[in-house]
Amino acid sequence: MHGVDQASRNRRTKYLKGQYWGGLLGWVALINPKLAITLEKRNSGNSREFHIYGLRLLNVMMRRFEEHGGTPLGHSEILELGCGMGRYTLPLACRFQHVHAVDISKQILRAARKYCSSAPNISFYANDGHTLGSFADESIEYVLCTGVIQHIPDFDVIGGYVKEVLRVLKDGGLYLFTFQVHHTQATGSRRTGAKITAEALDRCLSEAPYEILEISNDPEDPVPHFLVLIRKNKSASAEKKSFANFPLTNHPYRTGVFEDLISCKDMIELWKKPQPRITFYDKESSGNATG
Ligand SMILES: C[S@@+](CC[C@H](N)C(=O)[O-])C[C@H]1O[C@@H](n2cnc3c(N)ncnc32)[C@H](O)[C@@H]1O
Repeated sequence: MHGVDQASRNRRTKYLKGQYWGGLLGWVALINPKLAITLEKRNSGNSREFHIYGLRLLNVMMRRFEEHGGTPLGHSEILELGCGMGRYTLPLACRFQHVHAVDISKQILRAARKYCSSAPNISFYANDGHTLGSFADESIEYVLCTGVIQHIPDFDVIGGYVKEVLRVLKDGGLYLFTFQVHHTQATGSRRTGAKITAEALDRCLSEAPYEILEISNDPEDPVPHFLVLIRKNKSASAEKKSFANFPLTNHPYRTGVFEDLISCKDMIELWKKPQPRITFYDKESSGNATG
């Protein structure tokens, strides 16, 4: 395949497994940061495609910001929540005036600082895992959080983070978050975060100042994710705030982003295993998947 020898293939497979575990890094970091950074190193050891993939996904997400944002990106500050080793942080620094990169793990932040050392416009913060205390109210134009909340085992922390983001966002500011569907099962399942439902978000955020602009997934994505885009809006109608009533749209999100990468086939193989049920956007009572 693509003239690649067996040794390279083995390296790629290892890398992909690393990426899988890297995807669980937040969860691991909560328990054992040293183990998390070891896993992160495994990713970075053979990470060329990992970063290209991240960069392409970032481009897709930035189009949402460009389409809906009030302030041009180059004149704005962005907060990245759960920055990991910085694969989005560095390209964000090329687009935004300043990037504030937050993560719960000091060890991971050390790796991120190293990876992003060429960019002068990034500040890193180790936070407490549930608040954004380093940031003043209404001080930031954009917030991005990808692949983090599915690892958080406590729904109150997930909802609390949305409230914190809405506190630090300027009025009209945008918050884009994505999360992997597989991990959003009931607490207690193996390697999963808290169950995230539209109804639980509605209950938790009933007093929060926002309107939903998009809830979407990519039907072709072998690793199903949801993308949620909200805007801080102090006078939004209840209708625009309801996760349970907002229509789910199919938007190509991952499709076309990684099919040409050599590792794609391996990734799809990895995810052919039986998948847990989708829980986000379900009616809580029935528990049936609708996404
Ligand atoms: C799977 S990695 C994703 C990193 C990055 N967003 C990316 O896609 O490359 C999840 C990151 O979230 C961080 N994390 C997990 N729980 C967190 C929390 N409660 N608060 C802040 N960061 C958290 C982990 O330390 C880890 O770096």
